[in-house]
Amino acid sequence: MKRLRLLAVSVLAVTALAASAAAGDFVDLRRIEPVSGDAAAGAQKAATLCFACHGADGISPVPMFPNLAGQRADYLYQELLRYKSGSRPESAMTALVQPLEDADLRNLAVHYGGLAPDLPAPAEAPAQEVLARGGTLFREGDPARGVPPCQGCHGADAKGHPLADAGADSPYRAYPLLYGQHPAYVATRLRDYRSGALAHTSNDFIMTAVAQRLDDASIDALAAWLANLPAQRQAR
Ligand code: HEC
Ligand code: HEC
Repeated sequence: MKRLRLLAVSVLAVTALAASAAAGDFVDLRRIEPVSGDAAAGAQKAATLCFACHGADGISPVPMFPNLAGQRADYLYQELLRYKSGSRPESAMTALVQPLEDADLRNLAVHYGGLAPDLPAPAEAPAQEVLARGGTLFREGDPARGVPPCQGCHGADAKGHPLADAGADSPYRAYPLLYGQHPAYVATRLRDYRSGALAHTSNDFIMTAVAQRLDDASIDALAAWLANLPAQRQAR
């Protein structure tokens, strides 16, 4: 009888532990509601709060400020939540989003997600071999080092996961597009994933595993190739 009670108590304890691990350790982004909001209200807020750093049209004038135009709204909303909760490293964004309401974050995400990613070509074209290495890594990965092809998750054209909108329960909704993103920003992000600094969501875990396989030369080549996608399109 005593043994039975002991067993019951330990089963309860184990169940409680499992429940707290599942609920507390990370944000599970595999099943998220598609974000909706008021794009016009978002545009109004953006015109006063965001345009100085992210540009009037969501194309940022400074390399360390990411372009937002045409980025997936679901991804943008999740990132804004993260600046608010402090789970992305401290930056200009952290203080900025503190006074904003949840509805503001949704409206801003929908606004920027709806803008055309009409990106200018970078001022300096990188060396051909750097571009070639970046393109190969993106399309094919580097199986010898365990690097998966980026295109599997970010799309052959780097415009997002091909199944992001495949049904309301798509687990790929918050996978970002990388097309034409500023190279300095992309390289910094990849190094942050690699160092383990981003370990808050299920999507962080995925990208951390990828980035830990990348050396510095690969990171720089990938960032250069992604930034030059718009230029390559225009040249064709
Ligand atoms: C003072 C400059 C500044 C202002 C103003 C600013 N941002 Fe940012 N934003 C940044 C910087 C710098 C980063 C990159 C920070 C990092 O590495 O996490 C960033 C990153 C972001 C990201 C993450 C994008 C990604 O690809 O992960 C989003 C979303 C964003 N900003 C939205 C906004 C919105 C919406 C506003 C207005 C409410 C705004 N920002 C105002 C500087 C700014
Ligand atoms: C198995 C799926 C998967 C693969 C493969 C993958 N990624 Fe990602 N990537 C993600 C997810 C999910 C996120 C969003 C993580 C988050 O929320 O911070 C992401 C985010 C990123 C970001 C941040 C974008 C931003 O705007 O801040 C960059 C940069 C990136 N990935 C580059 C790459 C590169 C380069 C490769 C190939 C070497 C790659 N990814 C391969 C799933 C993947």
